[in-house]
Amino acid sequence: MSLFVLLVVLLCLLIAAWLWMKPHPRSPAIVPGALPFIGHSHQVIGDRKHLWNFFRKVQVYSLKNGGVCESWFGTHKFYVITDPEDSLTLSNTCLNKPYVYDFAKKFLNNGLITAQASVWKTHRKLLNPAFNQQVLNTYVNEINVQARTLVSKLGPLAGKEPFDVRKYLINYVLSAVTRTSLGLGTEDQVLIETDYAEAIDELVAMFCDRGQKVWLHSSYIYKWSAMKRKEDQLINTVKNIINPIIQKRKSKLKGNSVPYNYNNSASTPGKFKPVLDQMLQLADEQNAFTDDDIREHIDTLAASSYHTTSSAVTFILLVIGKYPNVQERIYNELQEVSKHEDDDFTEQDLHKLVYLEAVIKESMRVYPVVPFIARKVDRDVNLKNCTLRAGSSCAIGLYGLLRHPLWGADAEKFRPERWLDPTTLPEQRSLYAAFGVGRRNCIGHLLSNMMSKIALAHICRRYHVTGDISTVVCEFDVALQPVKGHHIFLKSRK
Ligand code: HEM
Repeated sequence: MSLFVLLVVLLCLLIAAWLWMKPHPRSPAIVPGALPFIGHSHQVIGDRKHLWNFFRKVQVYSLKNGGVCESWFGTHKFYVITDPEDSLTLSNTCLNKPYVYDFAKKFLNNGLITAQASVWKTHRKLLNPAFNQQVLNTYVNEINVQARTLVSKLGPLAGKEPFDVRKYLINYVLSAVTRTSLGLGTEDQVLIETDYAEAIDELVAMFCDRGQKVWLHSSYIYKWSAMKRKEDQLINTVKNIINPIIQKRKSKLKGNSVPYNYNNSASTPGKFKPVLDQMLQLADEQNAFTDDDIREHIDTLAASSYHTTSSAVTFILLVIGKYPNVQERIYNELQEVSKHEDDDFTEQDLHKLVYLEAVIKESMRVYPVVPFIARKVDRDVNLKNCTLRAGSSCAIGLYGLLRHPLWGADAEKFRPERWLDPTTLPEQRSLYAAFGVGRRNCIGHLLSNMMSKIALAHICRRYHVTGDISTVVCEFDVALQPVKGHHIFLKSRK
């Protein structure tokens, strides 16, 4: 009898799975290679190079099939969109993230990347002003200081062997972001650049690992794993570093909340109001954040900034190392804008570096560091030619959008000049998706551009760069990055 019941239950499960996986009239094309019940899961097992190859292949398939396709992980449906209009519809309709983001939830919880849409809406509105251009202008001095440190660390390597520049860039970005977020003195900053940076790095790597190890997706299995024990330990390390910093700053600011004037501070070198102070003020005046929220936002800024920006600048250096005429044009522009080698780049200088800006944008278009983003499809969504069904997930293929045929016949080519004449750019703004699509896009994109521009300006003014982007093989972590061995060579210009 019990065997009979078991068989009936099994049969019902099989029928339910078959009905769920069966294409319906407005389904998009299914990516080839799906196996019954496991779908494409077998195709993501392997190293991170392999993982990126799979994600790229799926986006190319989506581009060739009207801009939307369907893949499967077990019985979970994962759509992939590369059509600009449909990307915008989906990203502005579905604001929640799919279950894989929950792997980072214990650590980042209400931070912008992982927050539920209801919390995200209020927090994003409150945090937006902390990342506007006027505030960022007050960081220019601090970022120049960090860029000088970067260039001086690169000094001993110039004229020697080719080397991996990314670890130096990671240091640079982490210092710039944590200094402008936390406003720490040199002593506390050391802890941030060592123990805190290491813990964040390990945690981020761990979330990727869990994503790839499908059997650890179940929280019941995960809670008994060695990975979970390590995660708890690392989260404690991070909390023990950041919580005292928040408390110390809080008591310092108590009764000392002089209104901050960004207009005046921009003209006072080195003076800025760190993001932490802005959040503490909002917490004090509007009860907007708890101490935990503040820690989660700070950790989110650190975790989301350094992998991405350091990879982007690495790719740009490899690009300009490959195209000497592009490099010379950047150098000439730098000479025109800032005559003396020891001058800092001011906010006005940065505006004048138009060609460098075009190179940054074009490199991030052809070599994006975040190749896709994902959303939870929590309601049926009607797109132009198909309907996405509730209960599934959807990836928006940024790589596909950035190389979409609407960019023109030379979409795959690196051609910075296209940015110098806006009339030649495609009309659909969602095609420039290097920083995401729709309302939940990157809050740090202006800061990231500023850090990239200042670092590149300092490096290119001092050194001649050699590298080769055309041989780069990438792997997918939280961001795309070159696998080891793609080095640049620096020669001093003096
Ligand atoms: C080259 C550098 C960067 C790239 C390519 C990049 C890309 C992105 C993308 C594609 C998203 C959207 C994620 C999604 O929709 O799921 C995003 C979100 C985000 N990024 Fe960036 N990012 C960069 C640098 C930064 C920096 C420097 C910061 C912080 C200082 C930052 C902080 C964030 C945060 C907090 C979010 C979540 C925004 C939200 O959901 O409201 N990013 N980024």
